[in-house]
Amino acid sequence: MGFRIGIITASDKGSRGEREDLSGPTIKAYMDEQGWEVVSMKVLPDEEELLYQEMVRLADDEKVDVVFTTGGTGLSPRDHTPEATLRAATRNVPGIAEAIRAYSLTITPRAMLSRAVSVMRNKTLIINLPGSPKAVRESLDYCLGSLQHGIEIMRGDTGECGNETK
Ligand code: MTE
Repeated sequence: MGFRIGIITASDKGSRGEREDLSGPTIKAYMDEQGWEVVSMKVLPDEEELLYQEMVRLADDEKVDVVFTTGGTGLSPRDHTPEATLRAATRNVPGIAEAIRAYSLTITPRAMLSRAVSVMRNKTLIINLPGSPKAVRESLDYCLGSLQHGIEIMRGDTGECGNETK
């Protein structure tokens, strides 16, 4: 079944048109491949309030199944994406961010510098991805298969948690 997806790129430079936004389109290309519908794709400055409001809009008004964010998860004073995400959360879903970080650490030790979180807001998953197209590709390659199953459970499409490795 097709899912509805929202994408938020957190980038001061991208929002001012000073840098081309490549991570958002990278996420969109993955969604197209899956047959999942991207209903919104925005580039916003690294402002916690603006990021929070867009997450709430996508979850409450657009009722997307997943919001992917890219960027703003690092240690810079301008990185606010995890804080905005935690404000929007109704439940914590730590395993997705933990898994992406664990896998990413097998590629680069710098993955330890991502503060990314993953949460639910009602029936919407919000997942932080790092800011580069390379990191986005590596993260999505690893998590998309399991995500599909998680979204189906979250929506109530299946109660079965079949484990394909059993
Ligand atoms: N994760 C993967 N899979 N691949 C990467 O290249 N880069 C890291 C990390 N996670 C990286 C990664 C780096 S260098 C940083 S600083 C953090 O993500 C935070 O990135 P952000 O501030 O762009 O969100």
